[in-house]
Amino acid sequence: MKLLVIHGPNLNLLGRREPEVYGRTTLEEINGWLKEWGKQKGVQVDAFQSNSEGEIVSKIQQAGDKHQALVINPGAYTHTSVAIRDAAAACGLPVVEVHLSNIFSREEYRHRSYLAEVASGQIAGFGPLSYLLGLTAAHRLASKV
Ligand code: DQA
Repeated sequence: MKLLVIHGPNLNLLGRREPEVYGRTTLEEINGWLKEWGKQKGVQVDAFQSNSEGEIVSKIQQAGDKHQALVINPGAYTHTSVAIRDAAAACGLPVVEVHLSNIFSREEYRHRSYLAEVASGQIAGFGPLSYLLGLTAAHRLASKV
């Protein structure tokens, strides 16, 4: 089984980006944990980060052929991107939306997620653990258990 994790804009800066909100763990460390989780479960975990909305849309389109489920933190595009929402709806895979921070306890413009209505579910507020919880959910959905 292959699962894809997509990190959206500014998540390449994790570790030094607003650490009081996002913590001090780097994206490299998070991806290391996700791959380690995959090794233990016998699952290939591929990770992709982009600051570009179009690249994220293209990656979601390609995921339909190669992967069995998608975990995505669209970053700020969560609150703005109909294109990412439409790609997720079209890809035919279970989609799990994750956020490091609890977007509902923050500014009002972060309360709206275009992706949420087409995602299987959303996990927010647990820091890097959100990704591991998201991966666990995606694995279960892809295994149909
Ligand atoms: C985020 C929350 C978004 O509102 C923000 O724009 C991000 C990160 C999170 O993981 O908490 O870039 O998706």
